Amino acid sequence: MIQYALLLQEAEAHVTLGKMALEYVGFLSYFAVYGALGFHFQVLKTLRRESGIRVAGSAVDRVDRRAGTIGFVGSLLMVLTLVAGLSERASAKGISMMDVVSAGGERQIFQIVCIAIFVISFALAAQRMQAAWLAACVTAAAFALRNIVTGRWFSLVNPLHEVAASLWLGTLTVLVFAGLTSVRRGTTSRNERGRLVAEMVSRFSPLALSAAALLGITGVTTAWRHLKHLDSLWTTPYGYALDVKLCVVLIVVSLGAWNWRRMKPRLGGEEAAIAIRRSATAELSFAAVVLAVTSLLVSVPSPGPSGPPGARGASKTASAPEVLKK
Ligand code: HEM
Repeated sequence: MIQYALLLQEAEAHVTLGKMALEYVGFLSYFAVYGALGFHFQVLKTLRRESGIRVAGSAVDRVDRRAGTIGFVGSLLMVLTLVAGLSERASAKGISMMDVVSAGGERQIFQIVCIAIFVISFALAAQRMQAAWLAACVTAAAFALRNIVTGRWFSLVNPLHEVAASLWLGTLTVLVFAGLTSVRRGTTSRNERGRLVAEMVSRFSPLALSAAALLGITGVTTAWRHLKHLDSLWTTPYGYALDVKLCVVLIVVSLGAWNWRRMKPRLGGEEAAIAIRRSATAELSFAAVVLAVTSLLVSVPSPGPSGPPGARGASKTASAPEVLKK
């Protein structure tokens, strides 16, 4: 009992609301950026070309612009977490932000350049410039694989885990808030609206399934690496946080399966479109809780590979706000 109290006390020392909030904003920025790309390339791109949907061309354009705007907001959130991370490190070390950037070397510069390209590309994509989507997509691929230069395979796992989560649930977010909402508010006929929603959801499914598989594989890998021993799951604060996360993940997965197996086959009319929007929103609400628990998880020192206490970069591998510190 005393041992548990000490463990929790030690964990508390590393967790602050500010730190968790910054992590959370970092996750949201990924969801918006990769979600917008997943939606544009997987859901809308082929849909736009389909002759049967030609009549809905203006609805598709409107939805695409909204996706671009969501990506733009996400890239601004990346700027925010970048600046906050740099300034936190600068004040901790008593040096200027420019010194922190130079100390971060080429990887830090690469990251800043990627985020700048995201901001510009999404701003142009929101103004219907199609080439800008391609620039954002290439940048996103390079950004996801940025840790490859470290030569440590494990440093790729966390960024890929985060990208997989964003391609599944971020794309769902954009589908709900840009796709389903603007189609509903559009001027297209009831029949066409129902058909458009069915087309969007059926294009989203393969992406969701493959991203969820990658999320599971990378999740188990990073969990194994951080826990080191299975009993850490019930003997350490990191393990407790992971247990809570996995319970909520189970709810998200169940709701996703429900939407895929039960709701998707019913699509075609407007009522079914409204119903799937409601259940997809429930799935996203629990995903928001997963992210909140994850922001706690990544702030707690892990029982795995050792490093200075509380140093996320020491015991854990690079991720959103963390990589900003490198
Ligand atoms: C709905 C499903 C899930 C979502 C949305 C999600 C999201 C995330 C995000 C955004 C991160 C932060 C990554 C980083 O900062 O680098 C993360 C970290 C993590 N995830 Fe997940 N995840 C999910 C499922 C899973 C599963 C199924 C597992 C394990 C079986 C898992 C294990 C972990 C672990 C251990 C970390 C922490 C890594 C660290 O301490 O640095 N996740 N997750």
